Amino acid sequence: MRKQIIIFLALACMCVGSMKAFAPAQYQVKQKYVLGGEGGWDYLTFDSAGKRLFISRGTHVMVVDPYKGTVLGDIPDTPGVHGIALAQELGKGFTSNGRDNTITVFDLKTLKETARIKIEGENPDAILYDASSKRVFTFNGRSKNATAVDATTGTVIGNIPLDGKPEFGVADGKGMVFVNIEDKSEVTSIDAKKAAVVKSWPLAPCEEPSGLAMDLKNRRLFSGCHNKMMAVMDADTGKVIATPAIGEGVDANAFDAEKQLAFSSNGDGTLTVVHEDSPDKFSVLENAETQKFARTMALDTTNHDVYLVTAEIEMAPPAKEGERPRRTMKPGTFTLLVVGSAGAPAMKDAPKEAPKGKKPAAAVEAPKDSATKDSATQALYKSKCQICHGADGAGSAAGKKLGAKAFTSAEAAKESDSEMFDITKKGKGKMPSFDKKLTDDQIKALVKYIRSLK
Ligand code: HEC
Repeated sequence: MRKQIIIFLALACMCVGSMKAFAPAQYQVKQKYVLGGEGGWDYLTFDSAGKRLFISRGTHVMVVDPYKGTVLGDIPDTPGVHGIALAQELGKGFTSNGRDNTITVFDLKTLKETARIKIEGENPDAILYDASSKRVFTFNGRSKNATAVDATTGTVIGNIPLDGKPEFGVADGKGMVFVNIEDKSEVTSIDAKKAAVVKSWPLAPCEEPSGLAMDLKNRRLFSGCHNKMMAVMDADTGKVIATPAIGEGVDANAFDAEKQLAFSSNGDGTLTVVHEDSPDKFSVLENAETQKFARTMALDTTNHDVYLVTAEIEMAPPAKEGERPRRTMKPGTFTLLVVGSAGAPAMKDAPKEAPKGKKPAAAVEAPKDSATKDSATQALYKSKCQICHGADGAGSAAGKKLGAKAFTSAEAAKESDSEMFDITKKGKGKMPSFDKKLTDDQIKALVKYIRSLK
């Protein structure tokens, strides 16, 4: 009896220890692609259907393959472009051209311009497509209003006056659009069909909100603020629920619904990663190092990587005498950063880097002189998986708490071997990734072993 208690305690301690070791964060720059090219930059948009990245570059939009770092195409003549919105169901893309107050409509297949829409607003900045109303909304920084456009016909529906200077916006897919009001430190909700403001809510203590993202399921808004915090707001009541600390100079936010992570890309060269422990509890996992001025980003919803862009900045002589020196981009240094969580491979077809100087830990821990391959796998399971999944695969108390189901459950039975392989390799939810810790063959053997548990 006593012995059992000691074993239980030892396991419980190990478990706490391993929770820390398995913290799902550790985002790091996995790739840098120097893209070069003319123009500063603002927002970038990931196209999950086309597996492409649209990057605004001042007077044109660069279309990039983020897995290879190659330029696929270009949309020219978008004066002062800030953002790109995609309407997959219509096969159309839209850019907000801040300098001449227009929207460029382009074909998602050919990338050719198909229409140009003049709006009655000044400096259209953020832009989004709302699928529920099939409308495009621009948020016009200088005229302090939003413009609603019928995405199918290209006709302007009307302008929506706002309280102050709008920044980023997000649609909930159910008819509501939310936008940060930077100079009022508010979030304003807009009824997309009526093209009218519903409510404005204060973000205090958060000030000067810029980036905005949403957890659609739990209806949480994430506003990235310039006083170094992220305001998490209930999208139905307007209540600020939490204000996790972020880096300085945020300009974009994103939410990874599968990993329950909210991101903030900050100009100080960090990416703040916040975990949604529950819809009312949020904890900062880390401030991952990126690169200075990498203040905007896009989330790759297919592989969970985050794309950021930046460049080397140098000081240039003032434009006019008596003015201050200007910051300019050093030619040829515009760079795409691919940031991912350690252990999750960014690209399937990229050359695989062997972890340098490190043998897979499992190879060391598994008994070398084990008589059969099976007992080695069993030992591996014992040392790596049992703590959460239990000896019989039914799930330990700690594992169940994290969301592990019995391997014999109906849900698990539906999963194919390759899905189980992927989950073990890349992780899922609170299940840690074993990419760096196990070889593919070891994982394959473990999946087979799991299947044999009854
Ligand atoms: C720190 C706890 C923990 C450890 C250690 C762990 N897992 Fe998991 N595992 C989980 C959780 C939690 C889930 C459920 C993930 C989800 O669905 O969100 C899970 C799910 C899985 C699944 C998907 C099964 C299903 O029902 O959908 C597989 C396969 C799996 N784990 C294999 C392994 C293997 C193999 C190991 C050891 C190499 C391992 N796990 C180690 C916590 C853990």
